[in-house]
Amino acid sequence: MHSILITGGAGFIGSHLVRRFVQRYPNYKIYNLDALTYAGNLENLKDIESYPNYKFIKGDITDGHFISQIFETYKFTHVIHLAAESHVDRSIKDPLSFVKTNVIGTVTLLNAFKELWSSNFTDKLFYHVSTDEVYGTLGDTGFFTENTAYDPNSPYSASKASSDHFVRAYGETYGLPYVITNCSNNYGQNQFPEKLIPLFINNIINKMPLPVYGDGNYTRDWLYVIDHAVAIDTVFHKGKLSETYNIGGFNEWKNIDLVRLLCRQMDERLGNKENSSEELITFVKDRPGHDLRYAIDATKIKEELGWSPSVTFEEGLSKTIDWYLNNSEWLNSVTSGDYLSYYQNQYEKI
Ligand code: NAD
Ligand code: TYD
Repeated sequence: MHSILITGGAGFIGSHLVRRFVQRYPNYKIYNLDALTYAGNLENLKDIESYPNYKFIKGDITDGHFISQIFETYKFTHVIHLAAESHVDRSIKDPLSFVKTNVIGTVTLLNAFKELWSSNFTDKLFYHVSTDEVYGTLGDTGFFTENTAYDPNSPYSASKASSDHFVRAYGETYGLPYVITNCSNNYGQNQFPEKLIPLFINNIINKMPLPVYGDGNYTRDWLYVIDHAVAIDTVFHKGKLSETYNIGGFNEWKNIDLVRLLCRQMDERLGNKENSSEELITFVKDRPGHDLRYAIDATKIKEELGWSPSVTFEEGLSKTIDWYLNNSEWLNSVTSGDYLSYYQNQYEKI
């Protein structure tokens, strides 16, 4: 029997992954450990909370004593580690909280996993979910491969790079069985509206300015979140130990082009007159250390494990917009309270 710990399961990607595993694998027991920070929301998992193979545990991955206790109690055979501070802009304002959660939290989990299984690592797995941002930035051409040297530029990506290194080091030093995936930008339902796409959807709904950093000529490679969950499922079951797999959408967009597409789709849905959302676009001061371009070469996972994205960007974006428009209660509840002070602080000049 697999006893699987998924950390950060109440967050954006984690909630899609938890749902997939709980529904697809009734023989696996899925434990979702989440501290329920501003980014974690149990509403994301309402539909599966009463499944018999699912249990939620509230707790902090940096609390070593608590983490040892739950490993001892539930004997997790597999860990899929997603819990993290995940937003670049917040990392620029408060780097230490990223070191704490992303580095110390990861090492705390590695220690507990090692303590429990070092006498027999057979059929065990520590799966670390990471980001393409560890590779730093690309110029106008080229792609990140699994062999690209790490070169992180933001406190967020530096903390994720560090956590990746620790996972690999535990593999080398203690023989800990691991796999790491580095994925490009995700989008989709349940994403907290601090990231580009849901922030702009919320602002368009509320006819607020759309704050495009710099000249908007920054490029990201976008992947629909459910395709990421499928990729994690694929690597979990078929990936080779001690390997890294890059996951990407084969889908590069300049921010400004993406925002214009989003504006067009939103205007259609909201019955606005043509171009009315585009009028909200406001170019604002650039993000410090802003990475110019991310683009993933996902050939390895495609050829070795047979995974590739299932939806086009237009389809995924359309589903995402529909979800936010149909879930205004969710959106209103996460954009009240602390969100308002975050927003004011981050976008005070607009
Ligand atoms: P998110 O911010 O939506 O969710 C993070 C979750 O972790 C939240 O539920 C939060 O409550 C929980 N958490 C935070 N600190 C914790 C702690 N100390 N203890 C326990 N739980 C804690 O993040 P996301 O976008 O779903 O990203 C999940 C993972 O995927 C992260 O590791 C991130 O680096 C990685 N990733 C994200 C993207 C992306 O585009 N969002 C792309 C590639 C990789
Ligand atoms: P984001 O969603 O924060 O993801 P990441 O920084 O991890 O790539 O940002 C995506 C892109 O959008 C990035 O180039 C920064 C830009 N951006 C804006 O122009 N304005 C905004 O308000 C935000 C949040 C992001």
